[in-house]
Amino acid sequence: FLTIDDFDTEDKTVLVRVDLNSPMDPEGNILDDMRIRSHVATVKELKNAKVVLLAHQSRPGKNDFTTMSPHASKMSKYLGQDIKYIDDIFGTYARQKISSMEKGDVALLENVRFYSEESLERPVSEHEKTHLVRKLAPLFDIYLNDAFSVSHRSHLSIMGFTNVLPSGAGRIMEKEVTSLDLGKSGGGRPSIFVLGGAKVDDSMKVIEHVLSNNDVDRVLVTGLVGNVMLAASGVDIGEENMRFIEKQGYTDQIDRAKTLLDKFNDKIGVPQDLALNDNGKRIEVGVNELATTNHPVNDIGLETIVSYSKEIENAKTVVLNGPAGVSENEEFALGTREIIKAAAKASYSIVGGGHISAEVLNMGVEDSFYHLSTAGGACIDYLAGEKLPGVEILKEVK
Ligand code: 3PG
Repeated sequence: FLTIDDFDTEDKTVLVRVDLNSPMDPEGNILDDMRIRSHVATVKELKNAKVVLLAHQSRPGKNDFTTMSPHASKMSKYLGQDIKYIDDIFGTYARQKISSMEKGDVALLENVRFYSEESLERPVSEHEKTHLVRKLAPLFDIYLNDAFSVSHRSHLSIMGFTNVLPSGAGRIMEKEVTSLDLGKSGGGRPSIFVLGGAKVDDSMKVIEHVLSNNDVDRVLVTGLVGNVMLAASGVDIGEENMRFIEKQGYTDQIDRAKTLLDKFNDKIGVPQDLALNDNGKRIEVGVNELATTNHPVNDIGLETIVSYSKEIENAKTVVLNGPAGVSENEEFALGTREIIKAAAKASYSIVGGGHISAEVLNMGVEDSFYHLSTAGGACIDYLAGEKLPGVEILKEVK
């Protein structure tokens, strides 16, 4: 695909889709700003242009589905320049602000997922007809997609501008694709995927893909993915934990997990013990003790940590995605940290996903990893050999 090097950006108005989606606490503070920092590289290279950033935060209905205002302040600090937060996406106010920008200015539009058509997975021809594209495109000379980490979704702001405006990849998109292409061949077999975090549907899709194609020898599950697998294997994980799965809309994933366990039983590792959160206190329990608990599972247990770590250390290729538990809470960060330590000892490892990458950086072990991806779902989809719509469409641009 084309990159910044292929465009004359002098005095041009450039629309850049970035991914600033970050873990946030209930007060609206950004807990990890790895993605925000990463995109500064692209913006700095566009100094001679007028740069408008378009991004999302979380998903409708979630507690951290908020405005992009804190992201603009954070990014301004890293950029060393004020980024104007525009409290609108494509209305008159946004368009006036964009039209009055001067060379060197940088602005960030409102959370693009506030607009309902953004998250519809539709063909490009449909996206192009939307009000968002029709109102914004005439104001821009160039569109850059720098949001590799959302490019596994055929969402409006990823797909809708590429045929309408001269389009290419930003620096993060370029770096992710180059590193992961090199990394795809991996360090050889045995190869292990360790999948955790809360995006259960994404993980199930990847497990189906890599095990059916025999691309990976073992998949170890942790986090919410682990709970769903345990429930699928017939373990009673307790009412509270079942309710949580239901609340996240993942009840249907239990049957999907059952099918996977039936087909690939010996290739999927599930936790043998877990850590419960009893009013902030860590309590270790075996899976058989879950049935009677009202406490949420917040981490994998010690025995699981030991057995997973052994497997991981001895693997030739390790891909980590998603934390093993509520890693932002000190009491429940143990599983995630120990898995990171084990993966750092493996010959070759890649880590993806906001929370777990943040932990790698906190621990200062990033140099032991072949690649620290800014992406979660997009990273594992790409490594699993899937074609990402946002990357493919950039390749089609001539
Ligand atoms: C991510 O955090 O992986 C990306 O920003 C995509 O977010 P999504 O899974 O809500 O689409």
